[in-house]
Amino acid sequence: MSSDHKKSYVVQPGGNLQGEIRVPGDKSISHRSIMLGSLAEGITEVTGFLEGDDALATLASFRAMGVKIDGPKDGKVTVHGVGMHGLTAPDKDVYLGNSGTSIRLLSGLLAGQSFESTLTGDISLSKRPMRRVTDPLTQMGAEIASLEGKPPLTIKAGHKLTGIHYTLPMASAQVKSCVLLAGMYAEGSTTVVEPAPTRDHTERMLSGMGYPVEVNGDTVTIEGGGKLTATNIDVPADISSATFFMVGAAIAEDSDIILTHVGINPTRIGVINILRLMGADITLSNEGLTGGEPVADIRVKYAPLKGINIPEDQVPLAIDEFPALFIAAACAEGQTVLTGAEELRVKESDRIQAMADGLQILGVDAQSTEDGIIINGGVIGSGEVESHDDHRIAMAFAIAGLQAGGTIQINDCANVATSFPNFVDLANNAGLSLEQIDE
Ligand code: S3P
Repeated sequence: MSSDHKKSYVVQPGGNLQGEIRVPGDKSISHRSIMLGSLAEGITEVTGFLEGDDALATLASFRAMGVKIDGPKDGKVTVHGVGMHGLTAPDKDVYLGNSGTSIRLLSGLLAGQSFESTLTGDISLSKRPMRRVTDPLTQMGAEIASLEGKPPLTIKAGHKLTGIHYTLPMASAQVKSCVLLAGMYAEGSTTVVEPAPTRDHTERMLSGMGYPVEVNGDTVTIEGGGKLTATNIDVPADISSATFFMVGAAIAEDSDIILTHVGINPTRIGVINILRLMGADITLSNEGLTGGEPVADIRVKYAPLKGINIPEDQVPLAIDEFPALFIAAACAEGQTVLTGAEELRVKESDRIQAMADGLQILGVDAQSTEDGIIINGGVIGSGEVESHDDHRIAMAFAIAGLQAGGTIQINDCANVATSFPNFVDLANNAGLSLEQIDE
């Protein structure tokens, strides 16, 4: 995998963002298209698939479990579904790289299979908490061995699952999805209650493939024993990848950029809401629906930003966008305060600490708190920062270059390939001066 090779970014100061670009496909929807397409009856044609390491890890894992999958080629993937009970035992441990979504969703899906499987990952994934999925799965009757609550996870065979009523201890679409996927294999009904709305791509795709899911406010219920019917899935561009260009245009004078065919599912648009509260000039056009997911073109023109207290109800709706939003805060006039975001500490890196440390190196007044950060907008300087192998930290500091006083070097950027393989090219085409150095 690309993360075996060290890569750094060097970004020259200044510039602005122009033009019309389409960022790669949505990571969450790409994962789910492979998982549900594999379990469906019939052939699922996927377009706009994200050819990044994370979604490719999911794809490889289903191939290893006997599913014929053609592609990806130019974002096209053909999944020859094997039906709910057609997966076969992988002949070795399933390696899921950096991908939390793969391991957490797969653990739910595999808990209901008749074969044993072991799920592993890279150094970062091996440090991430898995009790949040093994606890509810155990309540359903699964038997899962872990290394003190961390991967590898070994999911034992031959356990009958029973539906549960589960109140999520944290707002997590991965945990919700894990339990719902296990619920398809459980006897009776499985209900998940969310403390706050999180991305609902699993629910939408299940419904789109003919598996009934009942959504009632904060409660989602699924009955075991149903089936999925293959369908075509058009994956919209990922709003989480678009975010770097949205923030870049919002902070760099004279910018005017259009991001096309971006997924604007209401559970994902916290970044638009938060940037607008900060004063950003964002307009949507060409709104439509593709495969049950809302899409639009997003235009962002430069406008001066001001610091805000980020409303806590926006946190789960912008959970992956905070590294970039912290750069917006660093360029805003006044103070930005984030609270209620302790989940950021257990992402691909501790994103609160990684961003606070990097911003301080660049001369920005940024103080981490237990559940968030306080950033006083000011001048971004220059320096060498660490991405901690976290794709979103790397890309956030890259766009900071637009407003920096000097060169920024960002270390350990190989994992950008997990979510945004052509980031360097697209960023340079749009107006950034970004060089990738292979070490
Ligand atoms: C995801 C859910 C979120 C998000 C991750 C993708 C998903 O994780 O951060 O990048 O596809 O369900 P949590 O469920 O841990 O919040």
